[in-house]
Amino acid sequence: MQSANQNIKPLTTKINEKGNLSIGGCDLAELAKKYSTPLYVIDKETLVSIAREYKNAFKSYAKFKPKFASKALMTSAIAKILADEGYGFDVVSGGEIYTVHNAGISLNNSTFNGNNKSREELNLAIDLGIGRISVDNFSELELLNEILEEKNKTQKILLRVTPGIECHTHEYIQTGHLDSKFGFDLTQIDNVIELITQKYKNLEIMGLHAHVGSQIFETKVWSDEVEVLIKEIKRIKDKFKIELEEINIGGGLGITYTKEDTPPSVQEVANVVLKSLEENIKKYNVKEPVLYIEPGRSMVGTSGVTLYTLGSSKQVPNGKKYIAVDGGMADNIRPSMYGAEYCAELVTKKDSETKQKVTIAGKFCESGDILIKEIELNNPQKGDILCVYNTGAYGYSMASNYNLMLKPMMVLVNNSQSAIIVNRQTYAQLVQNDIIAEI
Ligand code: LLP
Repeated sequence: MQSANQNIKPLTTKINEKGNLSIGGCDLAELAKKYSTPLYVIDKETLVSIAREYKNAFKSYAKFKPKFASKALMTSAIAKILADEGYGFDVVSGGEIYTVHNAGISLNNSTFNGNNKSREELNLAIDLGIGRISVDNFSELELLNEILEEKNKTQKILLRVTPGIECHTHEYIQTGHLDSKFGFDLTQIDNVIELITQKYKNLEIMGLHAHVGSQIFETKVWSDEVEVLIKEIKRIKDKFKIELEEINIGGGLGITYTKEDTPPSVQEVANVVLKSLEENIKKYNVKEPVLYIEPGRSMVGTSGVTLYTLGSSKQVPNGKKYIAVDGGMADNIRPSMYGAEYCAELVTKKDSETKQKVTIAGKFCESGDILIKEIELNNPQKGDILCVYNTGAYGYSMASNYNLMLKPMMVLVNNSQSAIIVNRQTYAQLVQNDIIAEI
């Protein structure tokens, strides 16, 4: 079966009776009119479908516990939908912790990750009963134990390790290679275990955590990763007589931004992970560990699109035709930051087919603010609505207020209904923290 991450468009994308594009049964031109643009649209059916697909793909493994990597897209409504589907959360900041909590969701099923967690963030996580803290480095071990001593509490932790696995993805989104800023090197683990058993008595070590990178298409990296983690569990067991019971293999499954992207399905990833798990449990003679995964992009990427209105255009003499939209690098930094490519199309039907090659520019004051370098659109005109696919992950979550532009609204669509899940920012909100100092 094809997974949602193997599609460019949300699963419910259709051409309706008017000839317009619709998602979740909602006409995109009407959504743009009703809510204005730029507008993030999330298709609930696609989101829930992939969330269930992950659970289904791993269902033969009783100790499977999925978490959603909040960094890809965290809003109260998204948190609620995924918590209702049985997901915990990979959270990496006080803000993500607060949002999950504020949505009425217990944090006991969530893991706090990150390479420089602050005292305030650790306090908040512990006070709200976070399930696991994935400790990243020696200074965090010390700080966390100190905080726990003050509170007279213990905390279940994982150790974030660098598995030494390279994957073919953008340099900025590779994390599992040896000189990564994240996690303990495997050669440091003995020292960590000694510290925990002899000195940091408030820490209860449950297992190992790794993440190899993002937008990955080769399943082999996960089978290698599982082996590295199980082998390490065996080594620790032999040396310290402590058998760790949990592994967290992170996220990383890629999605189909363009036809050139060929990610495996969720089931293919699950098969590879489960096979490697089974083989290595036997090979190293360890107990079946709890298996956590924490996908982000593949969970929310395909369910999201962004609607923009076409504005001014510029024909460079003997050169490109630029068409500018009413958003750009502040609502989607990925093209300018990673050279990411996206597919898009106009949402309304045109009477005639007159294809034009254009460059879609953002409206921000930077030449690099180009959303799509080259795309063929059907007779694009000022005022037309453009739908950019696959913006659900790392779009809104990386959005900024550059040029003091307002962050867009987000709506959820489902069964021909739409509902606002994030309001458009207001000018008053933009200046609410400003203070004119009298010094
Ligand atoms: N777990 C850990 C520890 C991670 O660092 C990440 C992503 C994930 C899970 C989720 O990975 P995913 O399934 O989304 O690939 N801003 C970049 C992506 C950065 C990913 C960082 N870590 C982008 O827009 O491509």
